[in-house]
Amino acid sequence: MFLRQYWYVACASSQLGAAPRAVRVLDQDIVVFREGGGRPRALVDRCCHRGVRLSLGRVTGGSLACGYHGWRFGGGGECVHIPSLARGRRIPERCGVPSFPCAEQDGYVWVWLGGDGDGAPPAAPRIDGFAAHRWDQGSVELGCASLRGLENNLDWCHPVFAHPWTHGQFYIALLRGLREQLLEMRPTADGMTLRGPVRGDGAASDQRSSQTLLSFKLPDRVEVRSLGGPSRRIVLHFVPTAPHRCRMEWLVARALPFGARVRFRQEEPAILRQDRLLLESAEQAAAGQGELREHHVEADAPTLMLRRIVAWAAQGEWEKKRASLPERRVVRVTS
Ligand code: FES
Ligand SMILES: [Fe+2]
Repeated sequence: MFLRQYWYVACASSQLGAAPRAVRVLDQDIVVFREGGGRPRALVDRCCHRGVRLSLGRVTGGSLACGYHGWRFGGGGECVHIPSLARGRRIPERCGVPSFPCAEQDGYVWVWLGGDGDGAPPAAPRIDGFAAHRWDQGSVELGCASLRGLENNLDWCHPVFAHPWTHGQFYIALLRGLREQLLEMRPTADGMTLRGPVRGDGAASDQRSSQTLLSFKLPDRVEVRSLGGPSRRIVLHFVPTAPHRCRMEWLVARALPFGARVRFRQEEPAILRQDRLLLESAEQAAAGQGELREHHVEADAPTLMLRRIVAWAAQGEWEKKRASLPERRVVRVTS
């Protein structure tokens, strides 16, 4: 049910200090900690002695010490010290906890739960242009599946209704009313893009200065960029934590080019809360009443395409089926 052969955000880099941290990714409890030198490591969050959470322990001398009897584990999960051992006694053979590949890149600690697969995982993902911006960053738990969060952010026609007073499209509609617009969908190597408003002919002279580019990247990233005008950049990851839950890791580029590179915000932005309440309501209804037989209109085409990409990726068929998608499709909406 989860897309396993990908890197996922474990937590923001700034949120992993000297203490170990519990995170949940793909229904797995994980502890992340910084070993000697600061490199992040990820282990199953369960001590192999009595099964308590290792995230309740602490980092001692670069290894992770369990909070119950003080057994210590190295970054690869191997048990390196048992305080209760009498002199001359040895650590039992193969004593340790499973570990996961872990990396730090572009403001995040990433974890790989894809198993051994065909050898080492690829390099951790980059956030294109990360170093060129200053960011506000945060993390919000959502009581809905990752897919709902993803498709919501490629849903061009919801902001006018879902985001009163927090979204540009709301204000534009307030001033000018709703207008017919054309949007352009394209598949990419690892997902899809949605650009709008465009002219229908795909001419190179198309007015990009007032356009927005939304992109989805497998397995769980959506980006929002304004093309031209003031640079607006939003990067969201919807990390699946359980089948019907996810954690949205958000980054929003700040307008002013000074201050800390990344500023972590504890509070949930109002615009994200507006989405969260709507998405959670749909998830709760699905849990109580079963999946909905949805009705669709042309404006739902990006949602349906995103779902198809995710379903193909889950079946291991994305590479093969991508060629069957039209290179470009124009969608007509009123927004
Ligand atoms: S339960 Fe972890 S050291 Fe005993
Ligand atoms: Fe929204």
